[in-house]
Amino acid sequence: MMNTATPDDETTTAAGDGWSEDMELAPAHPGDAAVPEHDDERQGERLQKVLARAGVGSRRVSEDMIEAGRISVNGRPVTVQGMRVDPSVDKIAVDGVRIEIRDDRVTYAMNKPPGVITAMSDDRNRPTVGDMVGDLAKGLVHVGRLDQDTEGLLLLTTDGELAHRLAHPSYEVKKTYLAQVSGSVPRDLHRRLRAGVELDDGPVAVDSFRVVDTHAGQSVVEVVLHEGRKHIVRRLLDHVGLPVSRLTRTAVGPIELRAMRSGTIRKLSREEIGALQEAVGL
Ligand code: URA
Repeated sequence: MMNTATPDDETTTAAGDGWSEDMELAPAHPGDAAVPEHDDERQGERLQKVLARAGVGSRRVSEDMIEAGRISVNGRPVTVQGMRVDPSVDKIAVDGVRIEIRDDRVTYAMNKPPGVITAMSDDRNRPTVGDMVGDLAKGLVHVGRLDQDTEGLLLLTTDGELAHRLAHPSYEVKKTYLAQVSGSVPRDLHRRLRAGVELDDGPVAVDSFRVVDTHAGQSVVEVVLHEGRKHIVRRLLDHVGLPVSRLTRTAVGPIELRAMRSGTIRKLSREEIGALQEAVGL
């Protein structure tokens, strides 16, 4: 991964040809830096300015945090002031917690109600998640899909690469579902589901499975998997004799639905987006 973070300590003397987009790694010390002679030739923005804009703290507070070694850029702690970073590529963490520092992208969490289709518009005039977000942000896409009857956590983002990676099974982002099923759940079912069962379109295995509650011939089970195939949870549970009467997605990777009311939308914090980016190697 390219690292373009460059320190630009004013006292540093130029030691080479200057900053280049091809530089592989940021120098660990300002004295190692290759800094152009003229300040306006230097690229990127000052780290404390980027931190302040991201709401980490005022520039002064951000400088104190840098001084205290609480900030890292691309995995390396920074203790010198004046480093320049490129918010479009550099990864910044505060106290070890990655944060999103770009301002040109937004990500939302929605608690999708049942009955709403996962599409930004519909030519048959059915209610869509697009109707729910309205003109919240230009270029929003939904991350994967929930069935019309499924409710719960749906992410929407203007970051196409993040959306792609979160939805693609190769990135193995775990999705957690609560399913209300009828029938009794065999004691060893979790073993069978973890080992994998064969569906019409190929095998599927869960990351975890547990019974949350059982009452009057109905159970609530929690299924965690990193599959993206259509109706996968309903088909899987149906296959093992547990037809689903209600399905709710409660988490996508590190983002949890928690107490969000049905039909509500909230903007993810910079820390939450950072956690999503970490989960998919961005
Ligand atoms: N699996 C399903 O069966 N439905 C969904 O909406 C999501 C996962």
